[in-house]
Amino acid sequence: MFREMKSRIDLEMRAMLKSSEGDYGVKKIVPLLSEGIEDFVLRDGKRIRPVLFLLAYQGYSRIDRLLNKNLVRAAVSLELMHDFLLIHDDVIDNSDTRRGKPSLHNWFNKRLGFAAKNAIGAGLSIVAGDVVFMMAFDALSGVKSKNEYKERALKEFTSAAAMTCAGEFLDVVSGAKPLDAINKNDIYMIYTAKTARYTFSAPLFIGAVLAGADKKQLTKLSETGVKIGQAFQITDDLLDIFSTEKEIGKPILSDLDEAKKTLLVWKAYNELPGKDKTAFLRVFQKKNKTVADKKNLLSTIKGTGAPVYCLKEARGLLSASLTAVSSLKMRQAYKNELAGVVSGISKKLDIVAAKI
Ligand code: IPE
Ligand code: IPE
Ligand code: MG
Ligand code: MG
Ligand code: MG
Repeated sequence: MFREMKSRIDLEMRAMLKSSEGDYGVKKIVPLLSEGIEDFVLRDGKRIRPVLFLLAYQGYSRIDRLLNKNLVRAAVSLELMHDFLLIHDDVIDNSDTRRGKPSLHNWFNKRLGFAAKNAIGAGLSIVAGDVVFMMAFDALSGVKSKNEYKERALKEFTSAAAMTCAGEFLDVVSGAKPLDAINKNDIYMIYTAKTARYTFSAPLFIGAVLAGADKKQLTKLSETGVKIGQAFQITDDLLDIFSTEKEIGKPILSDLDEAKKTLLVWKAYNELPGKDKTAFLRVFQKKNKTVADKKNLLSTIKGTGAPVYCLKEARGLLSASLTAVSSLKMRQAYKNELAGVVSGISKKLDIVAAKI
């Protein structure tokens, strides 16, 4: 079912991007902007957010509804919101690659003949991200539904986007703070805001609200989404260390480059004896870390047992979310599919576990 939904989403995205309708006349004035957006948006990704929307929509409908163009387009809005956030995130995190190709700022720099890190690419890709968010909003605002449902769906959509921006803000601020000034709650709050809300809670909520689900179910879906999303971000943080650029299509060790206060680093730091803390910080807070610096940090992190701790935290969250999923009043086939998404994250953790 996931694969079938994903292919409908991919087809609709292609149709949207290739048609001139809805490009606000941008293509005519500045073709390069449209071309960059198209190149980025049509790259291969998991499409997890629009699929979750469709699963929740079908799961709370009394019977299977037709996956018509209007509905699939509404689902695409969640992928476009994700694209806008990724484009900006790569500027924020100074990341060179995304989905196996240059990040959009590097893509623009390349096309314009500038060097990879030129600030012009960053400026252009901020603008491109903004256009993509307008496209996202339009894709959802055209959904055919009861006015009341649609209003609540749009409110959740804009709230989730704003919350993600707040999460990104906190992520950057915490990157600049000393590790001592950060606690576990702060980190989980960032994970909820920057990842869980827009990746899981909002897609499930919006799909369900449009299908007429009641308030209790909507609250349950949001809460379950937070747990799954936190585990998803912990997994993403682990993959930053225990995978290759080829596997994830984006740079590895970038959280170390940017001194990100992930759960992994926080735990490692807090496990270190006092005398080793200072040495760790000296390297961790360095602006331009060498390969040797990162190797050094990695071996310290691994030695503290922090990766195993993160695995345990993520697995705990996933098992609690499976329990929550099983108690949802969703139609069984869609509930199973949602449980399958949770198991997919567990499988990634198994792969990481084998490397620790
Ligand atoms: C990456 O999201 C950003 C995070 C929230 C961790 P995905 O892992 O869903 O990225 P794609 O869409 O599959 O590329
Ligand atoms: C994801 O955080 C948050 C958003 C994209 C909004 P990361 O910065 O860890 O995501 P990746 O690793 O670059 O995909
Ligand atoms: Mg980031
Ligand atoms: Mg990033
Ligand atoms: Mg990451």
